Amino acid sequence: MSRSWVSPGVAYLARGLLSVVVPVASSVIIVARLTSLKGIRVSPWLISAVVLGAAPLGFAAYVLVDERSQQRKANRLGARLVPRVQGKWPGNLDKVVNMVLRSENEYLGMVSVSCIPCLCFTESSFCVGRPLEDEIKVLGPTINFRFFWEDLILTTEPQHIKTILATDFDNYVKGAKFREAADSVLGTGVFNSDGEIWKLHRTMTRPFFTHDRISHFEIFDRHADHAIVLAKERFRAGLTVDFQDLISRFTLDSASEFLFGHYNAAAAFSYAFSQAQQSINRRLSIGQTWPLNEILADSTELHMKVVDAFLDPILKDALEKNSTAVEFDKNEFSDDQTLVDHLVNLTSDFKIIKDETLNILLAGRDTTASTLTSAIYLLAMHPEFLTRLREEIISKVGLTRRPTYDDIKEMKYLRAILNETLRLFPAVPFDVRENIQDTTWTSPEHGKKPLFIPQGTMLSYSVFLMHRRIDLWGPDALEFDPDRWLDERVKKYLIPNPFIFLPFNAGPRICLGQQFAYNEMSFMIIRLLQNFFTITLSPEPAMRPPAWWAEKDGRQAIERFRPRNHLTLYAMASLISSLRIRGEQACRE
Ligand code: HEM
Ligand SMILES: *[C@@H]1O[C@H](CO)[C@@H](O)[C@H](O)[C@H]1NC(C)=O
Repeated sequence: MSRSWVSPGVAYLARGLLSVVVPVASSVIIVARLTSLKGIRVSPWLISAVVLGAAPLGFAAYVLVDERSQQRKANRLGARLVPRVQGKWPGNLDKVVNMVLRSENEYLGMVSVSCIPCLCFTESSFCVGRPLEDEIKVLGPTINFRFFWEDLILTTEPQHIKTILATDFDNYVKGAKFREAADSVLGTGVFNSDGEIWKLHRTMTRPFFTHDRISHFEIFDRHADHAIVLAKERFRAGLTVDFQDLISRFTLDSASEFLFGHYNAAAAFSYAFSQAQQSINRRLSIGQTWPLNEILADSTELHMKVVDAFLDPILKDALEKNSTAVEFDKNEFSDDQTLVDHLVNLTSDFKIIKDETLNILLAGRDTTASTLTSAIYLLAMHPEFLTRLREEIISKVGLTRRPTYDDIKEMKYLRAILNETLRLFPAVPFDVRENIQDTTWTSPEHGKKPLFIPQGTMLSYSVFLMHRRIDLWGPDALEFDPDRWLDERVKKYLIPNPFIFLPFNAGPRICLGQQFAYNEMSFMIIRLLQNFFTITLSPEPAMRPPAWWAEKDGRQAIERFRPRNHLTLYAMASLISSLRIRGEQACRE
């Protein structure tokens, strides 16, 4: 695969330079011409200085005009502007600085939300982390940060998220920001494209996720076994296990085998793919100017060479085999086919096959690792639920038998544990879209005008915050209580309002791997609890929450790890993300 020969930084600077040089130079030429026509000679340097000096004025004028035009359009639609954060410094710079400084130590989701009240009530200028439900009560669930005069809307409102994902799907795209940051790793695939290209990828990939193909558990079994053997060795030697790390290897190995049929000798590949992903995360966290951080070289390039070296021969091999195979019905796939086998039947385009495979590997690997890590953490925090879950497992499959798809389907308590984990720690806590056209959203408060959303706005939606809203989930919303999925609370909260629970998104772009994920996670938890009967957390000092968290409200006060977010939620640690546990082995039957 040929990769670009200029670094992202150089390309970015060149574009930036052009966008300054071209207007300045043309203004200077025009002014110089006009003045020389009148017989006056003015130094081109002086003209350039005046033109550049006028730029901030021009920008201010632009902001003002934009502001007026937004208000006019909103009025015309009978709508109002989304409530705005009101910082003290121009462009809400104080709020940006505050967010950056505090995000290092704050609880996930607290910074953005907890700083908003002090913005609206400027008299109380210090940002205290108030409980989320209070904040939402004060501000409404949909707000505009408007950092540097650019609209950035965050919503935790189910009806607005429903509009974005389902009812008005065609008006929302993932947008260029994510695509550019991920392009050197993912190219275009189902996870990383919009519009017609996305549709094509989705149509091509969806048939692969059939019930039959995702309910064969040999793959999970082999890799779960391997992980458990490794964990036992360490426990026997009196050591702890970095569960997040162990489980990421398990989900990568399982996904690789499922997608392209190879998993051994993949250590270098695994490391390189993780590193490339870290680069994407870094880019997204820096924002638009990330290329400036990569002046000398593309930070993904070396890692992608390793990925290519591993994957290219596998894909070439599959393509060759397919071209020599006797012609058969291309719509018939057998259950033991990998994704690559499936794709080579549909296209002989090497890049499409490769991008698609990597897209799904990215979508499917960290999400399941994240959820399993959170589940084990929550079970360690709540031994009473662990005991009950173990009872269900033992009565259904015993201490040794390999669970089947039907076993898992009948294990209501296990499913409740997984749902409750996905509610409090959804693997994709924040997500973004951009709207193509001006639109309005119904007012979250009764009797008020709808909200105006100007075209091209960065829209961020948080299922993490929505899943913890007390007005949507009841007074115990912040508690880990799997029974809420089994008792009258389901009828009271979820059934009348299904969009309050969206760990897998909804609508045409709903997660393709949802069932695969439930199967994989259920399988692993069963295998773990067949082998271990207690789980103890032993966090390293570096990953423990700061002591002052204990004085806060809600989950911040009780959490024993620091939840963080890049594309997916993870447990923060100093160097590698880790969540150390010690398991006690179960007696055999
Ligand atoms: C607990 C596990 C998982 C969670 C919470 C999860 C969540 C999500 C979410 C929220 C999205 C939407 C992202 C967006 O549109 O911005 C998504 C998309 C996707 N997921 Fe998952 N996922 C999980 C596991 C998996 C697995 C195991 C696979 C595949 C083996 C997978 C494949 C995909 C694909 C291909 C998409 C893109 C669909 C599209 O854009 O049309 N996911 N997932
Ligand atoms: C878990 O959530 C899913 C929706 O993602 C729902 O269909 C299922 O019924 C829930 N299961 C339990 C036991 O609550």
